[in-house]
Order: sequence, then C-alpha cells, then structure tokens
Amino acid sequence: MAHANGKVILLGEHTVVYGVPAIAAGIDRGASAVARPAGKASLKLGKERVDPAGGSEIARAYSALSDALSAPPLAVEVELEIPAGSGLGASAAIGVAAARAVIEAGGAGDVLEAATAWERVFHGNPSGIDAAAAAHGGCIYFTRAEGPTPIRLIDPLRLAIAVAGPPASTRQMVESVARMRDRRRELFDKTADGILSLVKNARLCLESGDTTGLGRLMDLNQMLLSGLFLSTEEIENACRIARDAGALGAKLTGAGGGGCVVALVEEDAGPVLEAWKSHGLECFGAEVHAREPAP
Ligand code: MEV
Repeated sequence: MAHANGKVILLGEHTVVYGVPAIAAGIDRGASAVARPAGKASLKLGKERVDPAGGSEIARAYSALSDALSAPPLAVEVELEIPAGSGLGASAAIGVAAARAVIEAGGAGDVLEAATAWERVFHGNPSGIDAAAAAHGGCIYFTRAEGPTPIRLIDPLRLAIAVAGPPASTRQMVESVARMRDRRRELFDKTADGILSLVKNARLCLESGDTTGLGRLMDLNQMLLSGLFLSTEEIENACRIARDAGALGAKLTGAGGGGCVVALVEEDAGPVLEAWKSHGLECFGAEVHAREPAP
C-alpha cells in the first residue's frame, strides 16, 4: 500500500506561482493507493471507476502520470482521506500515492515528476508545492525555482483544520489572480512583496519555535489574501471563530474561494475544534512533527 500526505499551506499560496517562496506542511491524512498487475490498465478513485481511454480530465491526468512512469498494465485503486477541492492538496496526494503504487508494482520513474504531470492537467500552471508537500512529511520551504527545502521544526506544530465552505476550483482561482495581476500589477507586486517578508519571517519563527509570532504572520497573510479576493465570508467567519477560541492565527489554505481554513494552536486543538463544531463545521486536528522529511 502506498501513501501520500495531504497538505496545508502555512503561508504563501498563490504568490508561490510567481516565484515567491511559500511554507507548507504535510498532514497525515492524504491518499493511499494500491496497484496490481492486470490485463488492461484501469483506475478506481474511491467508488468511481475511471476509463483510462475515456477522455475525461481524470483519464487524461492518469495517462500523463502513466506516461511519466514506464509501467506494465496495472489496476490502480486510490482512496482519498481528505475532502477534494478544499485546499488540502487532494489532487496532488492522489497523484503521489498513485505514482508510488505504480512504482511499487514494477513501474519506473520519478514520483514528483509523475505527480506534477498529473497535477498539470487539473491546474494548468501548478507551482509544484502541493506535490512536494504530498511527497514529503514535515514542513517545507518551497520555491518554484529551487523546489522544497525541509524546515527543522523546534517543536511539533499543532493545527486545527475546518472545511469552511464548498470546494472551489484551483484552476479558476489561480486564473482569477492572474487576471488581477494583469489589471493591477502595482497592487499585486506590493502584495507579493508583503507575502515574501511574511514567509521569510515565518521560517525564522518555525526554526526558533516562536509559535505566537508564526500565528500573527498567518493572520497577516490572510489579510493580504483577502486583498486578492481569495477569501469568502465563510472563511472569514471560520478564522474569527478559531481566533476567539484561542488560536494563535488562522487563514485559508490553498486556492481559497471556499474550502478549508487552517488554525495554529499553542498546545491543544480541542477548544478550536469544539468551537467550530458548535457552528456546524466539519473539522479535525493535525500535528506536524519535528522530523526530517524523506528525500
Ligand atoms: C494550491 O494549493 C496552491 C496555489 O498556490 C497553486 C499552486 O501553487 O500551484 C494556489
């Protein structure tokens, strides 16, 4: 059985597409996959059977992934452990888990390359941060040019994650930021400069165990993301509930426009999770450990 992490982006989504660094953390919930030799290639995603020759988006993504891995015909089955389209890197987790399963079953090639080929079909212009976080554990500092660098955490990060609103399309959100960048380049560049300094400071906070500082930087990142029209009323509400319940910081994670909120807590995610539940939000806690991610 092959596994891949889900992810949260602690800081820097969207501007990472334009070369600004970002920080992501792999979470244990993600995707798992098995591949078995078969007369004919096939893919099953949860209960859904995908015809690899059917021409759907998933079928095209699967053939991009298979082309990157020379493999015999395989029956691949993937189970997703996180909500799709909600900022937790579901698509990248499926790509990484499927690529690992194919390699375990006799395929050959690079997991990240195969998962990025899969992602490109859905996203158009992925930075690669989701696939990198899905393939690594722990916390990574990521740039498009350099890829992931592990961050050595002093203490585990304790997170609370809520599904704040319905899923949004990453492709559409990335395209809306691209249009905004074309129209209002000066404003976009100022925002990107702001996020760059937040990310650099957040790295220092992570390396020194300053969770209070990290939480404040996440809040500031959320403000800048709202300025790019990526937040929603539901996301703002979920962030406010988390902060009122004692979170050190809270923000959207991933593409925004819906989906999940991530909150950083000092010790115990319980009070934030209880507060979200009392408002009817689906949520769970996650810990990111101070371990060296696998290469
Ligand atoms: C999506 O999880 C993160 C984005 O920055 C897109 C990307 O980096 O490919 C919105």
